[in-house]
Amino acid sequence: MDRNQKVSICIVGAGSRGRSYSNYSTDFPDEVHVVGVAEPRDFYRNDLVEKYAIPPENVFNSWQELAAHDGRVADAVIIATPDQKHTAAALALIDKGYHVLLEKPMAPTREECERIVAAARAKKILFGVCHVMRYTQYTQKLKQLLDDGLIGEIVSIQHLEPVGFSHQAHSYVRGQWSNEKESSCMLLAKSCHDMDWLRYIVGSKIAKVSSFGHLRHFTAANKPQGASERCVDCPVEPDCPYSAIKIYLDLVKKGHTGWPVDIITPDTTVAGVQAAIKTGPYGRCVYACNNDVVDHQVVGMEFENGASGAFTMTAFCEGSGRKTRIFGTKGELYGDGKIIDHYDFLGKKHALIDASKVGGSIVSGHGGGDYGLMKKFIEAVATNDQSAILSGPVESLETHTSVFAAEEARKTGRVVAL
Ligand SMILES: NC(=O)c1ccc[n+]([C@@H]2O[C@H](COP(=O)([O-])OP(=O)(O)OC[C@H]3O[C@@H](n4cnc5c(N)ncnc54)[C@H](O)[C@@H]3O)[C@@H](O)[C@H]2O)c1
Repeated sequence: MDRNQKVSICIVGAGSRGRSYSNYSTDFPDEVHVVGVAEPRDFYRNDLVEKYAIPPENVFNSWQELAAHDGRVADAVIIATPDQKHTAAALALIDKGYHVLLEKPMAPTREECERIVAAARAKKILFGVCHVMRYTQYTQKLKQLLDDGLIGEIVSIQHLEPVGFSHQAHSYVRGQWSNEKESSCMLLAKSCHDMDWLRYIVGSKIAKVSSFGHLRHFTAANKPQGASERCVDCPVEPDCPYSAIKIYLDLVKKGHTGWPVDIITPDTTVAGVQAAIKTGPYGRCVYACNNDVVDHQVVGMEFENGASGAFTMTAFCEGSGRKTRIFGTKGELYGDGKIIDHYDFLGKKHALIDASKVGGSIVSGHGGGDYGLMKKFIEAVATNDQSAILSGPVESLETHTSVFAAEEARKTGRVVAL
């Protein structure tokens, strides 16, 4: 298409992520416009219809309806349906010839990921996976410093994902990623970003993995004596840091109506949140949920270039940005998502680099990664150039494969070679 033409997109799954990406068109209306939506929930579908004045002929109740529609309604689709609903939607919409930006994880199994990648390549559409961490200013600065040889050769890397106690309770105990069968394992649901990011930063394929971790705390055996099934009538609620009253109601009472409050109900008033935690899934006791995903996991890895890596994800912390230490032959880097601390062996000195300020201010979620990704995907579609997308189908399949291998390693207690 003509580089000066606006790219048109259809949002498939207008929940939290679909809406976040659609906001890009509000902030950058010259680059992209939302012309269609496919979403079963009336409130969320109508919200986008109203916001972007989507014509009735481009409004669908599901991706199935969109796929059954004659022809295409947009240049590209953003598929942000729940994890288990990626494969069929992606295959059908790739087959229609849409360019596709697919939320991570691509799919819950390796075989499904392979089918999606094969279809995207066969159809020669532009394809990206929402590995937003690659697209932040911080990551780009870090990558540039490493590629410029600032710390010599990378020998090892240590990476921490401090999920946080309340985020874990919200998403991975009470929420939609709490049960492996209903969504996917924790490493795929949450940390496929990190495995992908580590491969990108080290600049080499992951060759071997080992992994340990399990569901340590959020189980019936740890339910305090006398605790109720729901926080609203629980006698031990005041002593529970995971209480839904503390995580949602206290927040909305302070005027906070964004994440995670807006996830549990579209009615983000105090009364709406009270009703949601009284009857909905997010008001359940964290020791009485249908959860089975791990609450802590480590992955050890060796890269093809010989570098070693150690990754830790844990629920049991305050919850903040990822922290990374990179050890090189000439120096060391420590980064927290904003500031990079460089220690140079020759000069024996530290230097601080504020990566959050490089090239302008952060304007979107995930440290600017949401908009960074959208910018590159839109550029790829506008110029018909897959290379604008930092993780194409083949590399996305490779990093998803490293996740499946690590999960196999955790479950079998073996080192798994890729
Ligand atoms: N990139 C990231 O950092 C990141 C962060 C969070 C979630 N995610 C991923 O994004 C995806 C969506 O997550 P979310 O938090 O927005 O969930 P969500 O539940 O808020 O949104 C999913 C939407 O898909 C809709 N949907 C269900 N069936 C559909 C169908 N047949 N056709 C069209 N739409 C349908 C649902 O009604 C819902 O509105 C998941 O795969 C999740 O793992 C990615």
